[in-house]
Amino acid sequence: MVRVISAEGVGSTSLLLALARAAESRRPDRLFTDPYAAEFAAAAPVVPDLPMEAGARRTALADYLAVRTRFFDDSLVEAANFGCRQVVQLGAGLDTRAFRLDWPPGTTVYEVDQPAVLEFKEAVLARCGAMPRSGRMVVPADLTGEWVAALLDAGFDPAERVVWAAEGVLYYLTPEDGDRVMVALGERTAAGSRFVVEHITREVVGSATLSGVRSELVRRRAEWRSFVDDPVAWLRRHGWHVRLFTPNELLAASGRQPEGEGAEARATGWLAVCER
Ligand SMILES: C[S@@+](CC[C@H](N)C(=O)[O-])C[C@H]1O[C@@H](n2cnc3c(N)ncnc32)[C@H](O)[C@@H]1O
Repeated sequence: MVRVISAEGVGSTSLLLALARAAESRRPDRLFTDPYAAEFAAAAPVVPDLPMEAGARRTALADYLAVRTRFFDDSLVEAANFGCRQVVQLGAGLDTRAFRLDWPPGTTVYEVDQPAVLEFKEAVLARCGAMPRSGRMVVPADLTGEWVAALLDAGFDPAERVVWAAEGVLYYLTPEDGDRVMVALGERTAAGSRFVVEHITREVVGSATLSGVRSELVRRRAEWRSFVDDPVAWLRRHGWHVRLFTPNELLAASGRQPEGEGAEARATGWLAVCER
């Protein structure tokens, strides 16, 4: 019997991603296939459909999440092929990259998230008989607590190159907690490492067109707590060389350019691949 994940709290946002990835995986023109996403959704308590919006706005948000997933897929595998054989996903949620991507030999994927989320994830994956295609360590820990010690205990070696991933997670932390995470990971980053990161801007937090999503997150006690308006300055301050991308350019490159009301509702955050 799988203990179900709570439909409230920040951990429940991982289910929204699973629903979005299950829907994308059914499309003939899908950007990726995540065979486990539907299994997580089926095992979950009743959750409102993503993205809690209708029409073009809904399509725009679903497309953004698909494009974002593919961006992290490609950037993380590229970093591993470049030599970063430790992949650390901060707030990994129900992501299944360790199971579905082609990793070079010797790669280990570390998945850091809240214990309740990982407990649910492991139970569903075990029931499916899922076999990882890389080394894989789950690291149940809170990013506002002793997550670095837990990561080191799991075998992470700060002397070796790493690619850190922060997808859909930093804005659930306060600015102070987010900065602490940036400092902590910076102190454990060997030369030649990478950081793949996504965040939102003030414009997203205040956007009228995203008010439906925002109020649903508030209702779930999973509100956005921080944003970064000047990513290049912020990332440089933390020691990273930055290649910055906008959601719009990635959407256009994937043939998912939003139209009409969807264009207005498009996410105005940012994504980056960083090196040091
Ligand atoms: C929107 S989900 C994204 C999950 C994953 N990155 C993905 O794209 O599928 C946000 C995740 O961040 C995790 N998270 C948020 N705050 C956290 C914290 N303080 N400590 C650990 N995990 C946290 C949640 O539990 C949730 O799984």
